[in-house]
Amino acid sequence: MSDVLIIGGGVAGLTLALSVAEQRQVVVLRPRHDHQGASQWAQGGIAAVLSPQDDIDAHVADTLAAGDGLCDPAAVRFTVTQGPAAIEWLLSLGMPFTPDTDPDALYPYHLTREGGHGARRVIHADDATGRALIDTLLARAAGHPSITLRDDLTAVHLASDRHGNCRGAHCLTASGEPLTLLARDTVLASGGASGLYQHTTSPQPACGEGMLMAAELGAELMNLEFQQFHPTCLYDPAGTPFLISEALRGEGGVLKNLAGQRFMPAIDPRGELAPRDIVARAIDAEMQREAGHHVWLDISHLDAADIRRQFPTIHAHCLACGIDITQAPIPVVPAAHYSCGGIATDLHGASSVPHLYAIGESACTGLHGANRMASNSLLECLVFARAAALHLLGSATTSESGAVEKGEWTAQASAKRCPDWVATRFATLRQIMSRQVGIVRSDVGLASAAEALAELERGVRDEARQYAHDISLARLQHALRLARLSVMAARQRRESRGLHFNRDCPEQTSQAAASRLRLGDLPPA
Ligand code: SIN
Repeated sequence: MSDVLIIGGGVAGLTLALSVAEQRQVVVLRPRHDHQGASQWAQGGIAAVLSPQDDIDAHVADTLAAGDGLCDPAAVRFTVTQGPAAIEWLLSLGMPFTPDTDPDALYPYHLTREGGHGARRVIHADDATGRALIDTLLARAAGHPSITLRDDLTAVHLASDRHGNCRGAHCLTASGEPLTLLARDTVLASGGASGLYQHTTSPQPACGEGMLMAAELGAELMNLEFQQFHPTCLYDPAGTPFLISEALRGEGGVLKNLAGQRFMPAIDPRGELAPRDIVARAIDAEMQREAGHHVWLDISHLDAADIRRQFPTIHAHCLACGIDITQAPIPVVPAAHYSCGGIATDLHGASSVPHLYAIGESACTGLHGANRMASNSLLECLVFARAAALHLLGSATTSESGAVEKGEWTAQASAKRCPDWVATRFATLRQIMSRQVGIVRSDVGLASAAEALAELERGVRDEARQYAHDISLARLQHALRLARLSVMAARQRRESRGLHFNRDCPEQTSQAAASRLRLGDLPPA
């Protein structure tokens, strides 16, 4: 039996592993391929109160404003207050943050600005903060005697005992062999659900697998209707998804329509640095109005050498696509980026299921409310991973446990495989979500999505009987149920707030309340 099983090896999972490994044995399940997940694609940085000119109350106030009335104030203050210590910890591990070379700088590392922030408070490693973080954490975790990193197994269901405790995970190998990993405590750090959409800011984001696995054990899911679309993904229909960091707008980049006119100042006094929900909706409206495929982001007011120095990754990627961002505007389009909802947790990352924790994008801590503020996500990964670790270290005794139940899952290693069939159904699911459950929603669209997804799930359930339970089929089944729950949450919210905009109820209700659903709330397909 593992002591602590962590499902997911991004920033949250690796931070937790390193934070408990002095006292507990840890197994981390991480994807085999580097391009999977979201952490390593994060560009902007980590928001924290580091400058002597900034303060905790200001960061709290900006986060609450971006969250549009739905943040949990206690979670916000907790996260923001813990931020500086989390950055100190990273510095102690050797994290290569970009220094501030200005001789008058009040803080040794460069702090940039992003949407919603009233101050410069985003510490970063050039424009590839996620990659640098993963490299730093992985270098420590890989050599640690109490941490076992496994990339040969994918968790497909959580294991539980008759008392309702989570006891690890049922996994499959790439060739479909089943294996159950028992654990005293299980932590989901398995990412969000942007993969439910067609166009995303990272090449292979998660599809909410962890959220649904937790829901299968009875965990409560919160705020699933709040899917964030990042305003500026590179418009490159034939290429792989590529984010254009909000830090470009933080350094003065402006958005223009195809006619070359700025449109943000007329919509929000904060202009291009308004919170993401507002900017993404404005771009979407401008694209509809012009019947265009993108808008422009222009950073060419900055000195060319500064652009190359501050944004080397973005500069190089765009140049490879034939765009010299020191001279020409960048074609950009909103794309699915971050799930503000997820597994409801407390301030220790504990879910409503005993011995099951969730951290990072798979969790909903109350920090983001109806719209996450830029660079608060890596902050949340660090703070809640460290808080969960402290809790795990303080509660290492086991509760009464029983034999692990098999649940609904049984492996049929001999049945035939179904990769093309699964891929086609996944494409249909993503098409439904993108068309009907995107930036702007309507009652008719949501009702039709609910019906189409239920029909798709029925078809998959019937046809799946002839196929082996492989990783891709499990992922599709989880994605379908999570998509249906997300649509249900969107239909139940009879208002527009933050990232959820329904043109049939455009106003906000006076009582802001988080949405909470369990798998049992979903009608049978
Ligand atoms: C960005 O660099 O724009 C992404 C940062 C974030 O999503 O917080």
